[in-house]
Amino acid sequence: MTALMNTNLDVIILAAGLGTRMKSATIKILHRAAGRPIIDYVLDLAGQVSDRPPIMVVGHQREAVQASVGGRARFAIQESQKGTGHAVLQAAEILEKESSTGRQVLILSGDVPLTYPETLQQLIDEHQRSQNALTLLTMKPADPGMYGRVVRDAGGAVIRIVEAKDATDEEKKIGEVNAGIYVFDSAHLFGNLRNLSTNNSQGEYYLTDLLALLRDSGHRIGAIVASDPIEALGVNSRAELATVEGEIQRRVVTKLMSDGVTFRNPATVVIDSTVSIGNDSVVYPYVTIEGATTIGSRCVIEPGVHLINATVGDDVHLKTGTVAEDALIENEASIGPYAHLRPGTRLGRHVKIGNFVETKKSIFGEGAKASHLAYIGDAEVGADVNIGAGTITCNYDGVNKHKTVLEDGVFIGSDTQLVAPVRVGKGAYVGAGSTITKDVPAGALALSRTPQRIIAGWAARKREDRSKEKTK
Ligand code: UD1
Ligand code: CA
Repeated sequence: MTALMNTNLDVIILAAGLGTRMKSATIKILHRAAGRPIIDYVLDLAGQVSDRPPIMVVGHQREAVQASVGGRARFAIQESQKGTGHAVLQAAEILEKESSTGRQVLILSGDVPLTYPETLQQLIDEHQRSQNALTLLTMKPADPGMYGRVVRDAGGAVIRIVEAKDATDEEKKIGEVNAGIYVFDSAHLFGNLRNLSTNNSQGEYYLTDLLALLRDSGHRIGAIVASDPIEALGVNSRAELATVEGEIQRRVVTKLMSDGVTFRNPATVVIDSTVSIGNDSVVYPYVTIEGATTIGSRCVIEPGVHLINATVGDDVHLKTGTVAEDALIENEASIGPYAHLRPGTRLGRHVKIGNFVETKKSIFGEGAKASHLAYIGDAEVGADVNIGAGTITCNYDGVNKHKTVLEDGVFIGSDTQLVAPVRVGKGAYVGAGSTITKDVPAGALALSRTPQRIIAGWAARKREDRSKEKTK
């Protein structure tokens, strides 16, 4: 990161538009990409280049936007959306009151989250170096589509921007377009915003019309071209949202790889930007890691693992198909394949949870094991407890949840039902097939299965009866 803190820079983020092409009840900047609302990435960017809280222009669903953004921005309200120039004017009214002259204003769009801070810094540096009134970011995408076209004169100087909807067929052929990111000198911005008109196909106040106004009054306009057009990709549709999310994930995975994480097939992994993974961990294909998940070093995350807000220590092995949500897994634990760790699960060091085991609101002490086919809910499982195959905590009586406590060193035989509330004392054994309804004292053996009966010769007699019936 080479981005500097620009102490002389105000940032305006335009975020009042609804985004009708999303076909959503939710404003587009609150749609999530890689685990965070789109607007969060733009707020990060603003924070990386300016030490002042940005001014965000809000309109549509502004209560929801303000609730999501909180104290990270100051808000200017645009009651009705009369265009980008009108939006900037709402923010200017706040800045004019407090800004001394000679400041710079960076304008960002709330729906353009992929710009690198280094690119913004280049734009700011170029603006200062050249003493332009306005320096804008342009790009040359494969398809210039509906972007505003950058019109240059014979000498190559930028003279104006023409919106695609207002452009002639000749102008539409221009490949260089406006990325919607600008650095202005505050005086030139504030001094001209009120001179914009709505004399265009959309009847809006276009911010882009400032170029021609500034040119006409003899000011210089500069531009730098973004090396990769993805930096200015906006989220206007679900397809663009998917492209943006893919790019953020690609960046997250690239960063994790540079920090020492192995991905066996990075293109198949879905990973939020809020996830951290320690070095020498290995992530297999088709893994999804979401939310505030942290994974330590030297872990193995096998195919089909799905983690949501999980905290995973070091040297943990998460085998195929394991799902964990709001769960804590300490160092050297081994989980799965096909285990389901539900919220409130806390597994100590060296715990082993095997295939088809479900846990919920349960604490496992160091070295405890449930290796096969079990449901352990609302339980406190001590250190080195061994839970046999098919064991179930009957934690719910139809109205209330009850607790099962298995003290240290307990051995639960296979196919046991632990009818909660129930406690098995330290070191006690429960025989296979038992239904435990009463507390078991420490060191005892509890058995509740029906004694086995043997009826000698029964099978031969049965077969004889059957063959007689057939011959009838
Ligand atoms: C704008 C530019 C276009 C550029 C493109 C880059 C103008 C007139 N055109 O077009 O040259 O190529 O961005 O992405 O500026 N907004 C408000 N209030 C409004 C209108 C818009 O806050 O009244 C906000 C939107 O929420 C959005 C941003 O401003 O975040 C850009 O507006 P949008 O309508 O998407 O402009 P484009 O048509 O994409
Ligand atoms: Ca747009």
